[in-house]
Amino acid sequence: MAATTSHTNFDVQNIRKDFPILSRKVNGQPLIYFDNAATSQTPQAVIDAIVDYYSNYNANIHRGVHALSQEATDAYEEARIKIQKHFNAAKSYEIILTAGTTHAINLIANGYSALLQKGDEVLVSALEHHSNIVPWQMLCERTGAILKVIPMTQSGELDMDAFAKAVSDKLKLVFVNHVSNALGTVNPIEHIIAEAHKVGAAVVIDGAQATPHIKPDVQALDADFYVASAHKICGPTGVGILYGKEALLEKLPPYQGGGEMIDQVTFEKTTYAGLPHKFEAGTPNICGGIATGVGLDYMNAIGFDVIAAYEEELLQYATEKLLKIEGLKIYGESSKKTAVVSFNVGAIHPYDIGTILDKLGIAVRTGHHCAQPIMDYFKIPGTVRASFSFYNTKEEIDIFIKGVERAVMMLS
Ligand SMILES: Cc1ncc(COP(=O)(O)O)c(C=O)c1O
Repeated sequence: MAATTSHTNFDVQNIRKDFPILSRKVNGQPLIYFDNAATSQTPQAVIDAIVDYYSNYNANIHRGVHALSQEATDAYEEARIKIQKHFNAAKSYEIILTAGTTHAINLIANGYSALLQKGDEVLVSALEHHSNIVPWQMLCERTGAILKVIPMTQSGELDMDAFAKAVSDKLKLVFVNHVSNALGTVNPIEHIIAEAHKVGAAVVIDGAQATPHIKPDVQALDADFYVASAHKICGPTGVGILYGKEALLEKLPPYQGGGEMIDQVTFEKTTYAGLPHKFEAGTPNICGGIATGVGLDYMNAIGFDVIAAYEEELLQYATEKLLKIEGLKIYGESSKKTAVVSFNVGAIHPYDIGTILDKLGIAVRTGHHCAQPIMDYFKIPGTVRASFSFYNTKEEIDIFIKGVERAVMMLS
């Protein structure tokens, strides 16, 4: 097995040693984990940070004068600053810690209930995850705003001519993912943001699938909101990142009421805390927030340029090999893709291929990937989705290809 890739500083076998789960077996076979778009695996540094928190300084934050509470508060706020730097937000209080991307989107959608009026237009893309469709539908139901859709094309890209036509003075909000979870398409968000801003619309970018591969610069993008999930970037589940421009966050009403988010409470009236606490009611996932910072440190130490270049090699390698399988069709053929291959073989149900791969120790995702409109567009029930990370190897892809060939032989 080749120990290194063509990247001089990047030794994938050494990297793999940082992930204890990668040495386990599944169904008697070495685990091959190709479900990274659903959640990434966890490096030892993050596991250690979680153990350290609960072993040494578990305490509630922002509330205590005692040493443990101070230590936990400092570590949590340091994590916020790490996240701020990673996303290049101008202020640390523009980073709100949530329970996940879904929670972050709902927070924004809920806030806009107070800011939209009947007849205003809200634009989502056809390439969205359900978490970036349903909250906006609910918002439109509450406000009487009209939900419009940027359609997609056969290559799995957004129809940008249709987008141009949809931009009007009525447009108030645009929601688009940076990268599609079902197809891996990297969307032209810079252009979308610039065009939406010309008519004064705000843009929410769902970065859940981009952040494992791309380091976003929210200021350079001029994104109004940018959301992501820690569990896809080597962090724990139950933590989300919401970046919002200060002026917009100030305009949004709080999402949940409770402790921590208040300034003064009387039975007559409550005044709210400033940012970020206005949006962080109750005890947060303290340990998770701290571990999120450690996950980002880990990925930044490898370097996102290195990660993206290596994953591109994996994507090209897997794509070429898969296309040699008779009857195999890849969905999502954009030239700008992250390391995701979504495919079907003839009329074989994706679930059947996934089940056979699982028996071989290979984890892929099958189904509609929480993106039913995309499946409807292609008139398919779902796909098999293999999604690669920087700790995967070409040797694993070789075994996976043999597994797909075997599954096709058994199921044809
Ligand atoms: C593009 C996209 N948006 C949103 C989500 C929802 O993320 P979470 O389940 O972490 O809230 C996902 C999850 O896969 C996703 O891929």
